Amino acid sequence: MSGSPGIPMIRLENVCKHYNGQQVLDGVSFEIRKGSITTIMGRSGGGKSVLIRHMIGLEAPDSGAIYIDGENIVGMGSRELNRIRRRFGVLFQDAALFDSLTVEENVAFPIREHLRLREKQVRAIVHDKLDKVGMGEHLHKFPNELSGGMRKRVGLARALALDPDLVFFDEPTSGLDPITRGVIYDLILDTHREMDTTYVLVSHDIHGVLNVSDWVMMLFKGRIAVQGTPEEIRSSTDPLIQQFTAVSGHGPLSMD
Ligand SMILES: Nc1ncnc2c1ncn2[C@@H]1O[C@H](COP(=O)(O)OP(=O)(O)O)[C@@H](O)[C@H]1O
Ligand SMILES: [Mg+2]
Repeated sequence: MSGSPGIPMIRLENVCKHYNGQQVLDGVSFEIRKGSITTIMGRSGGGKSVLIRHMIGLEAPDSGAIYIDGENIVGMGSRELNRIRRRFGVLFQDAALFDSLTVEENVAFPIREHLRLREKQVRAIVHDKLDKVGMGEHLHKFPNELSGGMRKRVGLARALALDPDLVFFDEPTSGLDPITRGVIYDLILDTHREMDTTYVLVSHDIHGVLNVSDWVMMLFKGRIAVQGTPEEIRSSTDPLIQQFTAVSGHGPLSMD
């Protein structure tokens, strides 16, 4: 593993979490470099969303530490956590838009919640973010009038609304056709280039993420089993990675 210069944006130390006797995270440790696009891969039900909920402070681990830009968020009070969360953008697995709000109002929501700005300024930010994701024409639509890909784009605009240092993407391309997936990956790259933030993706779309990520980790049986650059992952002879790339039913992923 290559060294990370300076303080990593995220560092997990031996994070463990169980639910009802099921050990979902079983000693997860890793570092995520500032400014990188890092993807955590893993099978469905493997704990990827649980991991994201821990990194954004929505859940506390049974044990272990979670450092965000050098500060351990485990055990932090809600006020301190809110200060840190203000730096995050999150694109949830199902985009998690508010159904009763228009596209414009959805993106304005975090801005209104966190910043005291005039209506005109709020709208200027919202329109800028929606233009960036190609949704500037759909301001007054409601989420149920949008396709899955459009909802993800609005979710991305909302995640970027406060110019976050750190953006989490939970399965940004799940449920999308290959072309729309490509559009979302292009947007991830374009917005990242522009803002120089740290992007953390969780996904099981290995072929897609290898093209956009700087670093890829594989979560398996509650731990990071393999990690490396996309080149290293592509040429890996690790049976876990081979099974994931080959989309084969045979291999360590199928054994429980
Ligand atoms: N709040 C919870 N209570 C009980 N079990 C949970 C909870 N959240 C997640 N789990 C379990 O943890 C495992 C990992 O879930 P998840 O992180 O959603 O997987 P995925 O990798 O598909 O995102 C699953 O078996 C799920 O049922
Ligand atoms: Mg999930």
